[in-house]
Amino acid sequence: PQSTVQGALALMDRLAHWLKTLTGMPAVALSPKAGAHGELCGLLAIRAAHEANGQGHRRTVLVPTSAHGTNPATAAFVGYSVVEIAQTDDGRVDITDLAAKLSPDVAAIMVTNPNTCGLFERDVIEIGRLTHEAGAYFYCDGANFNAIVGRVRPGDLGVDAMHINLHKTFSTPHGGGGPGAGPVVLSAALAPFAPAPWVVAGEGGFKLVEETTDEAAQGFGRMSAFHGQMGMFVRAYAYMLSHGSDGLRQVAEDAVLNANYIKAKLSPVMTPAFPDGPCMHEALFDDTWLEGTDITTLDFAKAMIDEGFHPMTMYFPLVVHGAMLIEPTETESKLELDRFCDALTALAQAAKGGDVERFKGAPYLAPLRRLDETQAARKPRLTWRPDDKGVSPAPLAAE
Ligand SMILES: Cc1ncc(COP(=O)(O)O)c(C=O)c1O
Repeated sequence: PQSTVQGALALMDRLAHWLKTLTGMPAVALSPKAGAHGELCGLLAIRAAHEANGQGHRRTVLVPTSAHGTNPATAAFVGYSVVEIAQTDDGRVDITDLAAKLSPDVAAIMVTNPNTCGLFERDVIEIGRLTHEAGAYFYCDGANFNAIVGRVRPGDLGVDAMHINLHKTFSTPHGGGGPGAGPVVLSAALAPFAPAPWVVAGEGGFKLVEETTDEAAQGFGRMSAFHGQMGMFVRAYAYMLSHGSDGLRQVAEDAVLNANYIKAKLSPVMTPAFPDGPCMHEALFDDTWLEGTDITTLDFAKAMIDEGFHPMTMYFPLVVHGAMLIEPTETESKLELDRFCDALTALAQAAKGGDVERFKGAPYLAPLRRLDETQAARKPRLTWRPDDKGVSPAPLAAE
């Protein structure tokens, strides 16, 4: 009974308030359970809005080449055709190509900002303007919101829907595991189509709007059986309260400063994918600097494990060859960043110096050595038994 969970509903209400305030958007759907689930929620709201406005014939979603794979996958899942938008040499959306591809058939664009190359989309206002002029909605992938939180409100940029990865921006570094939580903030145009449930404050306390009647009559349905990822709500809200609004702005500033520090320190030994100008919260390198060494991005990342560091994101974004995407987040101290950069500099020098074995056999110090990640993803073994083959540590190369 709702009377027994008033505290939980109050927390959801406060979290919703913070998310709406930080993004400058009037509504939020809390129930999506990850970024990709949030994308689905946003596009379903967009589809419902088009249908309600007699625009249900629109069949295309535009997605930049650098987009995360979940963006085109989501659009296809909702039934849209995906058309790619080209990228400029400096890693941003090619606005001329976008303008050429916007047509009465386009339902939405999906743009990540800051984008997956770790760069702010400087033309974002123009992107929003052109999109609206064509009668389409602007979906923003907010996976990188921690680079701008407290500094930029996506609602001011013309965004209609944006998911926020609570599990990244509000407490856990990108790649730090789950569970996921992907609330979606919505503009006034899309708010009526938000899925149930949501929390309202009434005279007798908080209540959940759960039925898709009355207040939620235009809502497109539900995203999940329950109310969202409550554990992540608590964690994200606690994180917000511990920082306060000025502290959250500091989060963005520190995340961006840390990434630029890494970019500057590693640029003499590695090749930044976009050398000109500062990056946002991620420093992106390509593998040009490894040419002629017979060492790949994967080998280099595995050797980092032997140095005690979790490897960076590899081979993403796809538009950058052998990509190495480093996201230090706001939490690392200068001491730790220096330790990291010194270790990578030494590794890069060893790679260029021809110490191929150090990389090809890496990691030497991890109990299971180099795992077959494709098999692990395709055929996961979800229970562990002491006699499982492969659980005892593999011998070191020297043995
Ligand atoms: C840019 C971008 N979009 C979408 C996602 C998908 O988010 P999730 O893994 O929470 O589904 C990610 C995840 O890393 C991402 O980086």
